[in-house]
Amino acid sequence: MKYIDAIDYKLEIGSLEESSFSQFLESYVNRKKVIIVDDNTHEHCLPYLITTFQELSDAEVILLPEGEENKQMSIAYSVWEALTDYTVSRNDLVINLGGGMITDLGGFIASCYKRGCDFINIPTSLLGMVDASIGGKTGINLGHFKNQIGVFSNPKAVYIDPIFLTTLPDEEMKSGYAEMLKHGLISNKNLFFEIIEQLENYKELDVEFLGVSLSIKNEVVKNDPLEKGLRKILNYGHTIGHVIEGHYMETLNLSHGHAVAIGMVMEAFLSKIEGKLSEGDYKQIESNILKHFKVPTFSDDDIKSMTEMLINDKKNDSGVIKCCLLSAIGKCSFDNVIPEERFIETFMHFKNLQVNLN
Ligand SMILES: NC(=O)c1ccc[n+]([C@@H]2O[C@H](COP(=O)([O-])OP(=O)(O)OC[C@H]3O[C@@H](n4cnc5c(N)ncnc54)[C@H](O)[C@@H]3O)[C@@H](O)[C@H]2O)c1
Repeated sequence: MKYIDAIDYKLEIGSLEESSFSQFLESYVNRKKVIIVDDNTHEHCLPYLITTFQELSDAEVILLPEGEENKQMSIAYSVWEALTDYTVSRNDLVINLGGGMITDLGGFIASCYKRGCDFINIPTSLLGMVDASIGGKTGINLGHFKNQIGVFSNPKAVYIDPIFLTTLPDEEMKSGYAEMLKHGLISNKNLFFEIIEQLENYKELDVEFLGVSLSIKNEVVKNDPLEKGLRKILNYGHTIGHVIEGHYMETLNLSHGHAVAIGMVMEAFLSKIEGKLSEGDYKQIESNILKHFKVPTFSDDDIKSMTEMLINDKKNDSGVIKCCLLSAIGKCSFDNVIPEERFIETFMHFKNLQVNLN
């Protein structure tokens, strides 16, 4: 069992059965427990949880449809209604059992319900384990705009048990690897190359790297929980990644990690044309990432609409587009002001490298 020092909550990596989870549940012995799952975690993860922990035998289960398109207000509304029907109070416990979609949505729902109800995250996807379940960002999408509505709110605990990864589809493992690559690109060159090596053989995750990766995020968040400065480096690859994910949500349905992987290569290209990143480092990033994540076909209309979305990105300040840039593999800066034309130049460059995913 590995215990990580998070801001104000328990963060444990290892078998749930050996963790403090059971003891934690005892502190909610006379309180209601509600487990939020999606179709897949209902099928693959919930049976293990409720058969292993007697304390959950009377828990209510709220089943949501899987998929990023369901991380939205109408679903949140229906869960608030269900919590009200179950007469859940502020001191009861919501357990988010799922990938980043469930921990973002469930965290948001719990944080707003009666002005804040206790919740914990048990991430079941790799991306959820190394990224989404920690750091206190919760939220929902607004149409195509990713995470446009949300609050910073920490769970009471996060329990990371790699056992859940055994049923995770390969494509979703790859999506999690993308966020681990990001942690390498922004602060640990070795991690970047280790993860590239793991990707070649992506079913066999080295749990050691899981700990290294989430510790990078955890340390950054501890330094800047509300993203006033340093934490912005965790958005590397996401300025472009989010618009790609949002723009193609209903057509290509790219995983979050896939969109971020492309965003990271494109933002490395931006770093190069802005004179910050060497050609050598750029080529390493491009060749290693694009081997595993293909760039979708961009038409001129796609580029126009994605550029418009960039201007609306919540990470911007008064219409000025700001972006993280790399100065080397493992070194990242934030709040670089980038003119709109640079993004168009970047999209046009990748228009010529595309492979059609349709
Ligand atoms: N809050 C944050 O700091 C933060 C950081 C990064 C990403 N995110 C968010 O996380 C989301 C992406 O997370 P994700 O990739 O986990 O998406 P997800 O939750 O949609 O999971 C991906 C797919 O895997 C399935 N799944 C999850 N666990 C499974 C398991 N153990 N076995 C079988 N299937 C399983 C899900 O049902 C889903 O179909 C996005 O909404 C993104 O915006 C949030």
